[in-house]
Formats: sequence, structure tokens, C-alpha cells
Amino acid sequence: MTEPRLIVALDFPDATSALALAERLDPRMARLKVGKELFVAAGPELIRALTDRGHQVFLDLKFHDIPNTVAAACRAAARLGVWMLNVHASGGLRMMQAARAALNGLPAPPRLIAVTVLTSLGRQDLAQIGLDLKPETQVLRLACLAAAAGLDGVVCSAREAPLLRRELGPDFLLVTPGVRPAGSSTDDQQRVLTPAQALQAGADYLVVGRPITQAADPVAALQRIHDEIRLALGENA
Ligand code: C5P
Repeated sequence: MTEPRLIVALDFPDATSALALAERLDPRMARLKVGKELFVAAGPELIRALTDRGHQVFLDLKFHDIPNTVAAACRAAARLGVWMLNVHASGGLRMMQAARAALNGLPAPPRLIAVTVLTSLGRQDLAQIGLDLKPETQVLRLACLAAAAGLDGVVCSAREAPLLRRELGPDFLLVTPGVRPAGSSTDDQQRVLTPAQALQAGADYLVVGRPITQAADPVAALQRIHDEIRLALGENA
């Protein structure tokens, strides 16, 4: 089996519900994303519990601070054994370089990716913080800065993926949320793509939350999306 392209967003308020689901998910089919709510509630213990159960964890805490502080946070995350972690590219080149340097030399460093422009921000929001430009222009600028700092990739919407893939080449990781299997609810996501469409747009990893976490049968939902991905990649499901 090739490495999983699917990342399940474990958006739960506490460790008990997160672990109850994680125990039912096959680590060979998906990695798990732990974000701010769950990490603030359940902390490093939960990350250890997940990795002890064989799961690979994307720690989605979007660090954004002075270089020294971010570097220390990245080192602490690496000590927890996470597979991937992220920082805000708008923290600047030196901050990202410090994060990169903090992980270099580790025996198995986590993938280090950046958030460019939050998809909740539109043109007006950017103007309010002094950025009078199109969101896509800023996304590309920050993605190029992340690449220049030696980061492994960015989180992006599948809509931005073709441009970033073209500009940043085949090895730059594109991690894409807003993915919905054909026929499922879009929840509060504005623009959704199916797993096949997201992969075609250039995504390497697909983040899917509620279609799995809120499904009546999460294991079956995971299996369906996993099969859809393998089909799209031309692999035998
Ligand atoms: O439930 P759903 O599939 O919409 O979850 C998507 C996950 O990806 C959530 O954890 C959400 O915070 C995250 N995310 C997103 N859009 C972004 C960045 C992150 O939906 N632009």
C-alpha cells in the first residue's frame, strides 16, 4: 500500500471523543490532523497516545511569533514525534528559516509547511490590514517565500493548487482542505472539490473532517474516500 494521501481532521473538543474515533481508523489509510481546539483541550498526551497507536499526526497549530519562539515550538513538536507541522508564512522569511533550522539534522524531521493567506480572508479583510492586493497574489508571494526558506510546502485551497504547482514545481507539498466526496454535504465550506478533482488540481494531501468524523459509519466513510483516492491515482483499491 502506498503512503496515505488522506488526512482526517480530528476536530473534537476532548481526547475521549478523538481517541474513540482514532481507534477505529486504519493508520495505513489516513493520517490525523490535530488542531488548536483539541490540542488546547488534550495537549501533548493525546499526541503521544495517537502516535503510540501507530497514527501519524499533522499538528496544525500554525505557529506565528518571533523566530526564536517559533523555532523552539517546532523543536518541541518534533520531540512529540509528529509527522507534519505548520507555521504562518506571514511570520516572515527569518521566522520560517529559524523553524527550518530547528528541524534540520533531526533523524526523522517532521514535514514543515506554511499557511499563506487564511481562506476566511477576502480582499476587503486584506485591505483592512494594509494589504491592498488580490488574495491570490499574496498567496503566491507567501508560498514562494516559504519555498525560499526551505519549507516543504503549504496548506492551500484546491483552487490555488494549479498555480502553486506550476510556480513551485513537483516536489513542493500542497495540502488541501475543503474536500468532499461526491454527493456529500458541503457543511460550511464555500468551494469544495471531490478527492479526484483536488488530486488533479495538484494536491498531494487531502484534509477531510466532517464527512468522516460526523458520518454514521466513519470507518465506511474513510474506506469510500480512500478507494476514491486510489482510483483517482490509478492504483488498485
Ligand atoms: O470538516 P472539514 O472537512 O470542513 O474540515 C476541514 C479541516 O481543515 C478543518 O480542521 C479546518 O479547520 C481545516 N481548514 C480548512 N480550510 C482552510 C484551512 C484549514 O477547512 N483554509
